[in-house]
Amino acid sequence: MPGAFSPPWALVVWCFLCGTLAHAQTIDRPDPASMAARVQACVACHGAQGRATREGYFPRIAGKPALYQYHQLLHFRDGRRRYGAMSELLQHLTDDYLREIAGHFAALDLPHPPTPSITLTPAQRERGEQLVRVGDAARGIPACASCHGQALVGIAPALPGLLGLPRDYLNAQLGAWRVGTRRAFEPDCMARIAKALDEEDISAVSGWLANQPMPASTLPEPALTQALPMDCGGVPAAEARR
Ligand code: HEC
Ligand code: HEC
Repeated sequence: MPGAFSPPWALVVWCFLCGTLAHAQTIDRPDPASMAARVQACVACHGAQGRATREGYFPRIAGKPALYQYHQLLHFRDGRRRYGAMSELLQHLTDDYLREIAGHFAALDLPHPPTPSITLTPAQRERGEQLVRVGDAARGIPACASCHGQALVGIAPALPGLLGLPRDYLNAQLGAWRVGTRRAFEPDCMARIAKALDEEDISAVSGWLANQPMPASTLPEPALTQALPMDCGGVPAAEARR
């Protein structure tokens, strides 16, 4: 008797429709929670909302300039930076998708955790501050502040700030540039700078930076107002040289 089959068929058709509708809905109206779902894997390491802490190793990503962050995601995906867990996560993601994720974290303006207290010798404090504020002309090292901003909070869209990062992370980045396991787009100014620093310089400058309290505004400066002292790949050239 055909009637006996109608309830299950109706159910099948209903379920098919309901599946289609649900599907159509996710395409027509993006779920506002989809970005939260997309970045769930990220916050496991970078902290809720990408905040991280100033201790440990994981760098904070909340509030970093968008183009800088996008470049880093490309670097990890394409092998110019190495961290297995991140490279794997990003391997199959498209440029557009990475740009959106970078924009999401860049737009977060969240309070910073307290500054850790790191013991430095007076010589380390002096050398660290000298590198940051003045550089070392004899060794071809411009002041870090001439590119990372006078307040060291970075300059949009491609220059990151240097405050609020763990010392171990800073040491590792400068070390990685020296040995070539971290690379930026050519010309890679940071590779030249890191190679001109010796190990004591790296320890002094990373300790000095990690010890600085956060300024009242931690948002990157809106734009470069003067030329950079060296060419840096990935930093929009026209704006940098105007
Ligand atoms: C397993 C832990 C882990 C996961 C998951 C993870 N990250 Fe990372 N991430 C790290 C570590 C560790 C570094 C620093 C690696 C290094 O030494 O260069 C890093 C570096 C970064 C940087 C560069 C920061 C800077 O200041 O240059 C960005 C941007 C970033 N991650 C974004 C993300 C995003 C977006 C996701 C999710 C799609 C993600 N991460 C998932 C651990 C993780
Ligand atoms: C000529 C400009 C310039 C100068 C001078 C400069 N930097 Fe950089 N720095 C950059 C650029 C550009 C990047 C981003 C590279 C990229 O896109 O991967 C960067 C990135 C960094 C990073 C990575 C930040 C992160 O979150 O992973 C660190 C650490 C850093 N610089 C430290 C320093 C220190 C310390 C000095 C001074 C001794 C210095 N920089 C001087 C241009 C400069």
